[in-house]
Amino acid sequence: QKGGYEHFMLKEMHEQPQTVTDTLLGRVPEDSRLPIEIPELNITPDDVRRVERLTFVACGTAYHAGVIAKYAFEQILRIPVNVDVGSEFRYRQPILGKNEWVIAISQSGETADTIASMREGKEQGARVLAITNVVGSSVARLADGVLYTRAGPEVAVASTKAFIGQIVGVYLLLLYMAQYRHLSPSAQQVVRELRQGLWRSARDIERVLETADKTRAIAERIAEKPVAFFIGRNMDEPLAREGALKLKEISYIHAQGYPAGELKHGTLALLESGVPVVALATQSSVYDKMVSNMQEVLARDAWCIGIVPEGDERVTQLLGEENVLTIPRSNDYLHVLPAAVQVQLIAYYAARALGRDIDQPRNLAKSVTVE
Ligand code: F6R
Repeated sequence: QKGGYEHFMLKEMHEQPQTVTDTLLGRVPEDSRLPIEIPELNITPDDVRRVERLTFVACGTAYHAGVIAKYAFEQILRIPVNVDVGSEFRYRQPILGKNEWVIAISQSGETADTIASMREGKEQGARVLAITNVVGSSVARLADGVLYTRAGPEVAVASTKAFIGQIVGVYLLLLYMAQYRHLSPSAQQVVRELRQGLWRSARDIERVLETADKTRAIAERIAEKPVAFFIGRNMDEPLAREGALKLKEISYIHAQGYPAGELKHGTLALLESGVPVVALATQSSVYDKMVSNMQEVLARDAWCIGIVPEGDERVTQLLGEENVLTIPRSNDYLHVLPAAVQVQLIAYYAARALGRDIDQPRNLAKSVTVE
């Protein structure tokens, strides 16, 4: 059942290149002159032209895919985007208008708070879409249109390949909509790169999995610590949160994911000698800022581990080669995929070193069907 892997989580992490390819297949023609079509989304080019705001609703790891969506949609398509966790959205009296879409993201398609958020959207007359992994799930049935991620069944409680599927799903929706929105020439270029690069990101993820030995060695040292921090900016910010969530969930090490610039507003007080801080620096627009944040961390004698694109020099010089994990260099949007895999591997190998029940962590259920 585990196909020779020690845990379902490890097996599922290794299925991630396939998730990327399967989710793109038949939707994104390799010939870039051909349009992207996703009929099950049930939206027309006119709907895309008219939409004024998107609200992503999701829980846990799926919420982090929603935050990634916010950065990407606002930066590239210039559409205003909200992101809410399901358990907050429904109780905060959200304001929705006619030309707004509520987009639920859910692996299982059965998460109670996500479903309730979709109902709230419907009641307010918004179009409700879903990005989900389970065909015929409650979320899929409730939605006006669906984009299925094709991660296949996910058994481990900690979500890995479904998260990768969600990010690809978000990008697919973005690429589809980009065809019918007015974009600046530079945004058009980003869209072209994203469309071509998505196929290659399966290989980028594979490369990270192939070089997991170094990640494992670092993770085994993190396992000896009572606490860990993850920091990042721009699209690395939701990944920092995801890294912390994954580590907490399966290793039971206390972890916090933070926007790097927020450290000095309080959390820096906790940094002392040897405290691990995983600093993601895959986003070129904020790379210099991340280098400054790493210097702040080092000044407290904390242990800073960098995640950077291959070919990086400054972070490597600052932290030392032994404290740097790399991902294949592509572009900021695509970096998110292999970087997500690096933080998954850190969590996995830390939990493994501690002998935790990785596939079935205490107190957690795979699908949260109650409030
Ligand atoms: C964390 C994890 C959870 C789920 C969350 C939402 O590893 O798996 O945080 O992401 O419970 O579940 P779905 O996506 O099924 O709605």
